[in-house]
Amino acid sequence: MKNILVIGGAGYIGSHIADLLCEREYNVLIYDNLVNGFKENLNPESTFIFGDITDVNELEKVFLEYSIDSIIHMAALKSVEGSSKNSSEYSFNNIIGSINVISLAIKYNVSKFIFSSTAAVYGAPSVDIVDENCHSKPINHYGFTKHYVEKYLSWISSIQDIKFVIFRYFNAAGYSTKKGLISKKESSPDNLLPIVMEVANNSRPELKIFGDNYPTKDGTCIRDYIHVLDLADAHIRAINFLDSNNSEIINLSTGFGYSVLDVVKIAREITNKEIKYKISSRRDGDPASLIANSQKARRLLKWTPQYSIQEIIESMWLLYR
Ligand code: UFG
Repeated sequence: MKNILVIGGAGYIGSHIADLLCEREYNVLIYDNLVNGFKENLNPESTFIFGDITDVNELEKVFLEYSIDSIIHMAALKSVEGSSKNSSEYSFNNIIGSINVISLAIKYNVSKFIFSSTAAVYGAPSVDIVDENCHSKPINHYGFTKHYVEKYLSWISSIQDIKFVIFRYFNAAGYSTKKGLISKKESSPDNLLPIVMEVANNSRPELKIFGDNYPTKDGTCIRDYIHVLDLADAHIRAINFLDSNNSEIINLSTGFGYSVLDVVKIAREITNKEIKYKISSRRDGDPASLIANSQKARRLLKWTPQYSIQEIIESMWLLYR
């Protein structure tokens, strides 16, 4: 069985990837500082190691103890808003921490590296539907930290024996409905769909919609929501892809955009709840629209997203209702 090291694997996306890896009979090692993650959401067949990517000595112990086939590195501070308030903390954790991980991968000859990047590297694109050739021009510090690591990885892989798949995630949402897997949800989420769910189940009085004066069909921001299980599936495919292919940067998206008001409407239909909202001012760092073409993922990984926005919201409502 191949050892796959999932750094940040106890987080929301990581725990879904770890579960799928266990199901596909990989030996899964999770390294996580539990700042955003929960041990309770891990498949019991995985091995959990507590640690931080900024603690290079602790991290190195994992490489000394295990022979690792591939690394999936997704550990990061991830709040767009938080990143403007605490930019040096975001740089230290997301940039320096990632350089630690990449350096150890090279030192211990782990040549397959999958890095979780983000749509936020595109900033506010001038085209309606972005593809991987669009320029990276982040407009928030979170996006900048991911952009920086992408550049570092691309450069270092040209002079060292390391191959990568950089995944640029669009808006990850949804949950696995596998019995017993997810028992803990994020506390105080700042993403749209968890907040909509909290309004629907009455644990939050209303949704604040950040701006209704964007140049979109109804004035609210448009995003490309992708089910976390579709993201997880792409990671397994990337491990196999790197066995016989070179490094690639790949968008993970559906190609369909929904405005904040579309999301509220669909959530109302699914939950049968009112979902109160009020319009408030714009949030810093929000582009009007982010939708991506996922042709490259479909072509190279033979991957197709399986879940609709309705199925994403339904899977969340099962956990929140
Ligand atoms: N929104 C609201 N009210 C809220 C929360 C969000 O109106 O209370 C709006 C935002 O303004 C935005 C949309 O809902 O227009 C989606 O916001 P999210 O916070 O859910 O997601 P973002 O698009 O801001 O960012 C997410 C991840 C980032 C990632 C990005 C990639 O949080 O880590 O997707 O597109 F980089």
